[in-house]
Amino acid sequence: MAMILDGKALAAELRADITARVSALREAGRRAPGLAVVLLGDDPASAVYVGSKVKQTEAAGMHSVAHVLPGSTTESELLQLVAQLNADPFVDGILVQLPLPKGIDSLRVIEAIDPAKDVDGFHPVNVGRLSIGLPALVPCTPRGCVMLAKRARADLTGLHAVIVGRSNIVGKPMAQLLLAENCTVTIAHSRTRDLPALCREADILVAAIGRPRALGKEHVKPGAIVIDVGINRVPKADGGSRLVGDVDYDAVVGVAGAITPVPGGVGPMTIACLLDNTVTAYRRRGG
Ligand SMILES: NC(=O)c1ccc[n+]([C@@H]2O[C@H](COP(=O)([O-])OP(=O)(O)OC[C@H]3O[C@@H](n4cnc5c(N)ncnc54)[C@H](OP(=O)(O)O)[C@@H]3O)[C@@H](O)[C@H]2O)c1
Repeated sequence: MAMILDGKALAAELRADITARVSALREAGRRAPGLAVVLLGDDPASAVYVGSKVKQTEAAGMHSVAHVLPGSTTESELLQLVAQLNADPFVDGILVQLPLPKGIDSLRVIEAIDPAKDVDGFHPVNVGRLSIGLPALVPCTPRGCVMLAKRARADLTGLHAVIVGRSNIVGKPMAQLLLAENCTVTIAHSRTRDLPALCREADILVAAIGRPRALGKEHVKPGAIVIDVGINRVPKADGGSRLVGDVDYDAVVGVAGAITPVPGGVGPMTIACLLDNTVTAYRRRGG
């Protein structure tokens, strides 16, 4: 049976460490790091994510600002709010919850965020800095994935990592982070030929596809580290629904050397890394 990479426990450790660092700042008479989250519209999943982000920011003793705006908000109103948050000295991190309603150009909004406050790590300046090995604010989900992989094996040097998915928010930054860990990295996607054979070459297999249980036993080399980023809601026999990953966990757990469960794997790490990025932004801004 595979080692279960418990993201809930690791995220709790990371949050405890952040809380202690914030409390030390406050005791020294310094201001607390601040995170502003912006939500447009009433997408229920986004509202849950933003609610958790606010709750965990407050629980860590940080300054938390939430702007919940109607879906009818225009792009120029949103850009005005971003400019206001860029200028706010008590805000170190700005997160605009994606996806944005139709009619708003997400890239224009991301580019409007001060790169020094871009705690999602999506601004082209941070993307570029990460790719040339300069200090950058790094996307939270891939950062959490690397931390989990390192729980299975502290030194990832020389391992072959196959990442299935090439999105800007997960697949591509994941590749950069694993390269920085000295892995040999392959990125696969929907046009990749013979995906099972390629995946079976992976010492680290990262699934960031968005298709429930798309990867099974035939994709996994015995002993591989399997990181499942997918969050898919599927119907249950009793009429309800439940979350599953992009990996068929029950089939793979007997083959892999280590695996992240869904839920309780990568998901909890994302918000913990967001708080950590906010503290990093605070420090770099001289807070
Ligand atoms: N845990 C977290 O905190 C967290 C954060 C972000 C995302 N997620 C989850 O991670 C998953 C991926 O998210 P995303 O935003 O990266 O998704 P995305 O933008 O939709 O990208 C999906 C990628 O998977 C590839 N793909 C789709 N079907 C495939 C197939 N049958 N075989 C091989 N590759 C295939 C696509 O290839 P093409 O490029 O060729 O279309 C694309 O590159 C989703 O389930 C999402 O909910 C979780």
